[in-house]
Amino acid sequence: MKPIIIANWKMNLNLNEAFSKADSLNKRNSSVQFILAPPTPYLAHFTQNFTRTTFCAQDVSSISGYGAYTGETSADIIKSCGINYAIIGHSEKRTTMKDSNLTVRKKVESCIKAGIKPIICVGESLETRKNNNYKDFILEQITESIPENANNIMIAYEPIWAIGTGITPTQEELTEIFDFIKNDSAISQVAKNAQLVYGGSVNSRNYKEILAIEGVSGLLIGGASLDDDELNLILG
Ligand code: PGA
Repeated sequence: MKPIIIANWKMNLNLNEAFSKADSLNKRNSSVQFILAPPTPYLAHFTQNFTRTTFCAQDVSSISGYGAYTGETSADIIKSCGINYAIIGHSEKRTTMKDSNLTVRKKVESCIKAGIKPIICVGESLETRKNNNYKDFILEQITESIPENANNIMIAYEPIWAIGTGITPTQEELTEIFDFIKNDSAISQVAKNAQLVYGGSVNSRNYKEILAIEGVSGLLIGGASLDDDELNLILG
């Protein structure tokens, strides 16, 4: 299986800047399965222009369908733009927008109903890691955020202490978490069946090592995906 590389551009790049980066990416061949998550308003325009690229939303509303919900963008609207993936429950949404596990679950349900594959983010803070509660914390996030009928999902393990910090977990720390999600008896079968990706300070120097870890199907990349040289090295 080709590794999955998801580039999360977050709230960066104006339309011209993003268009020109997406254009270059769309022209290149790559040995990975590349998925690009630009800011939401660019999605429909980009899918129409860059037909060789798979695009992804950075979030969807917890409300499904259509209706009088000013400012919301439902999974159905995202799907109608030709988008088949969405990042859900990113720690930046969980902290800045206070998305709870229940909200994440509603968003995941909306995605599934609309035919979008959710990339569900989980991961502990530094404090939780230091207190040695991280497995319980991840178990709770997984149990509360992922509905029982979710059969086509990705889980992104993104420890908050690794996001944008330049610090990545050690091989042992990552192996422990991926083994836990894949094999622990307390983890639901739907979560065990999910594709697992890692995110947090991935760059051109550490990506190979992380991809080599058992159970890791891909990477979710923030900062380094905005740097053309870095991303080109990772896309191979
Ligand atoms: P980072 O972000 O690669 O800049 O650490 C990853 C993420 O937030 O998904």
